[in-house]
Amino acid sequence: MNTETPFETFLNQHDEEAWSAALVTLLRSIQEVDRNATQIWFAFYPLPLFRALEQSADREKLAHQLLLQGDYELKDQIDTAHAFLYGHRFWPQVKKAVEQHADSFNQTLRASLADQILAVAGGVAQTARQDESLLVGITAVAFMTVQQVGIAAFKAAAGKIAIDKKHATKSPEQILRARAKDDSQGLFGFLKTVDKQFTVTHDENDDKAKYKLNDGQDLAWGAADDRSRDWIAVDPRRMEGPIPVECRSASCGTCWVGVLGGAEKLADVGAREGKKIKEFGYIDTAEPKPLIRLACQAQAHGAVSVVIPPWNGQFGKHLKALKEERDTPVVQPDDPTQSDRPTNDAVN
Ligand code: FES
Repeated sequence: MNTETPFETFLNQHDEEAWSAALVTLLRSIQEVDRNATQIWFAFYPLPLFRALEQSADREKLAHQLLLQGDYELKDQIDTAHAFLYGHRFWPQVKKAVEQHADSFNQTLRASLADQILAVAGGVAQTARQDESLLVGITAVAFMTVQQVGIAAFKAAAGKIAIDKKHATKSPEQILRARAKDDSQGLFGFLKTVDKQFTVTHDENDDKAKYKLNDGQDLAWGAADDRSRDWIAVDPRRMEGPIPVECRSASCGTCWVGVLGGAEKLADVGAREGKKIKEFGYIDTAEPKPLIRLACQAQAHGAVSVVIPPWNGQFGKHLKALKEERDTPVVQPDDPTQSDRPTNDAVN
């Protein structure tokens, strides 16, 4: 029996391309403080990977094949996965509004995905007396969360804010100022070269989540010196400091991070980083300074703020093969024009 609600049916009609188009529309309406964060969140919880796992005959086997490590399931982090968005502060109101929207959803209205997100965000903005631009990113996140976990699991989550009061009361301007700030190099800083030091913030909601690195060091190198806490207890993948690393040579994909602020202060993506980050499946872009980087490759020339995803894997080739399979027309045995087409059953 199909128990899908009309709202879930509507969401499930949207694939990665449809979501990308909706995000392009929405980005214009998202406050600067959450513009990068929203894009990073969508990279951290990719719909095609979710669908590949859902549709797999043996989910465990596929997860193993794709080397997935850590908490890649959005259903286990409905209230927390977006704590790095400014809009997380309004999660209880946004969650409630999305639930109401789902309950009263009327397919006949035919509003687009982006328009529905804007309408829900606008409603919350009005009742919370906030600028709508602070609500759009988190509302988009809530819609995608429903698509991936289902409305029942979404409703069952507690709907609580996961950050402390001190950080919850910061203004967007305070956060943007902190991201833009660079370390002072002292009175004679202009004479310094490689001994310049910069701060990397890896959790904006934790004042102690910072480490230093020297000018030109990669993000993972600097993190290895941070022994301020038992990182393995925080996340078993964090064997050497706060950034999970294994190979340090762009081979494993463990060290991916999202860059909330200071992407322009990282060196351009090198040929190997650019190639591997696509193969891993994290981001597909020709941008020289994208929002997703491999920490073991990205060299810093200034202070940056990053966010560490709770999982890693290598799924880019697999998703590409699935897409090609879907896009390949079915070959009719009696169609002579199709007989020489290569088959597309190779995975990974
Ligand atoms: S540590 Fe393996 S890719 Fe960076």
